[in-house]
Amino acid sequence: MPGMGAVATTFIGGVLAIRQGLGLPIGALSQMGTLPMAAEAGGEIPIKNLLPLARLEDLVFGGWDIFPENMHTAALKAGVLAPATLAHIKADLERIRPMPAVFDRACVRQIEGPHVKQAGSKMALAEQLRDDIRSFKAANDLDRAVMVWCASTESYGELAPVHQSLSAFEEGLETSHPAIVPSMIYAYAAIREGVPFANGAPNLTEEIPALQDLAAEAGVPISGKDFKSGQTMIKTVLAPAFKARLLGVSGWFSTNILGNRDGLVLRDAEALKSKQVSKLSALEQILDAQVYPDLYSDMYHTVDINYYPPRGDNKEGWDNIDIFGWLGYPMQIKIDFLCRDSILAAPLVLDVALFMDLAARCGLTGLQDWLAFYYKRPILAAGARAEHDLFRQLAILQDRLRTLADLAVPARGVSGEMAVN
Ligand SMILES: NC(=O)c1ccc[n+]([C@@H]2O[C@H](COP(=O)([O-])OP(=O)(O)OC[C@H]3O[C@@H](n4cnc5c(N)ncnc54)[C@H](O)[C@@H]3O)[C@@H](O)[C@H]2O)c1
Repeated sequence: MPGMGAVATTFIGGVLAIRQGLGLPIGALSQMGTLPMAAEAGGEIPIKNLLPLARLEDLVFGGWDIFPENMHTAALKAGVLAPATLAHIKADLERIRPMPAVFDRACVRQIEGPHVKQAGSKMALAEQLRDDIRSFKAANDLDRAVMVWCASTESYGELAPVHQSLSAFEEGLETSHPAIVPSMIYAYAAIREGVPFANGAPNLTEEIPALQDLAAEAGVPISGKDFKSGQTMIKTVLAPAFKARLLGVSGWFSTNILGNRDGLVLRDAEALKSKQVSKLSALEQILDAQVYPDLYSDMYHTVDINYYPPRGDNKEGWDNIDIFGWLGYPMQIKIDFLCRDSILAAPLVLDVALFMDLAARCGLTGLQDWLAFYYKRPILAAGARAEHDLFRQLAILQDRLRTLADLAVPARGVSGEMAVN
């Protein structure tokens, strides 16, 4: 994991705690979900019985951060898992120390740390990351790895010519082109090492053609972007309900307060823009004003995020929804979601890591549309239609898992021998 802050430590600490029987993997489809099958095939079958997913006992964790603290110290600082829980897994957490990061303050302007790689060019940084991946796998005797971006949100960026082809991108790495940001360097290193890459933040990363082409060429799955954990998850459940009942929406006002480091990073206008663009996209797609102009063409949608230190990771998300019904009579819905950001995100990291690993072993390459369920802004192959409705996304995911179950890949080691349409 690039980025070993609140989400990463909650994920790692959670898996270690679950291994010790200290809690359940609540929220993780891969661990607690079932697949509806025909009655004669057994009805609802636990996903982990049907698919040869890597087991929690077999996972080894590592990553990079700009702060050198071990995972116990970082978890205490993040303040998500209770100190009493952390005490049980202290020794294991202390053993996990971040490797020095590839960092650019121009992309994440609110934080600065000492644990950063120094190298001549961005290509040299990518080479160092590739070395890190190889050393980590060798030191831990690993068959495979998956990279999940859990680092800070980078400043808003748009596609530039240097992103358009692999050759332009590699030349840009050599000349340290400013439009190549750290998340792209990590993704490049991962894909070049045959490691699937997933993006939990709203960064541009795997959206760029250069990395999509590389993933296809190297036969590596990629997916993103921005975990759909709290407010957007609820939005993509409610909006389809309004559409199903043909209720109009005139306004959707969303705001959040949070006080973790993620919130601090989002104080910067450019990082905030990355997150806002990501959070805005779902509603417009679900409530399609072209198909239902009388219901949704005048919808006013706004999303705000405010840094408020007293709440730490315990984000509060408010939604005020102005809807209208029969003859246009207005009504209102208010939601106040007192959530825990990283508690919602940790199971998504686990699912994405296990499913990306499975995808790689089944020979799936490039963008993995079927994992849209996990993302606020699913990045899809050219021409594919974005699907944001949570239950439709779940159905797509389940269909894909059923196909993969039919292929019945062995649990360890095998790659690239299945053909999946
Ligand atoms: N928690 C959620 O519900 C949720 C949902 C969607 C997306 N996200 C995204 O997940 C990411 C992590 O969230 P968090 O709450 O753990 O934030 P965090 O600030 O606690 O952790 C991020 C870590 O990344 C490190 N970092 C920054 N740039 C880095 C780089 N280039 N290389 C290595 N490390 C780097 C920071 O030092 C920090 O420790 C954020 O981008 C956030 O927007 C979180």
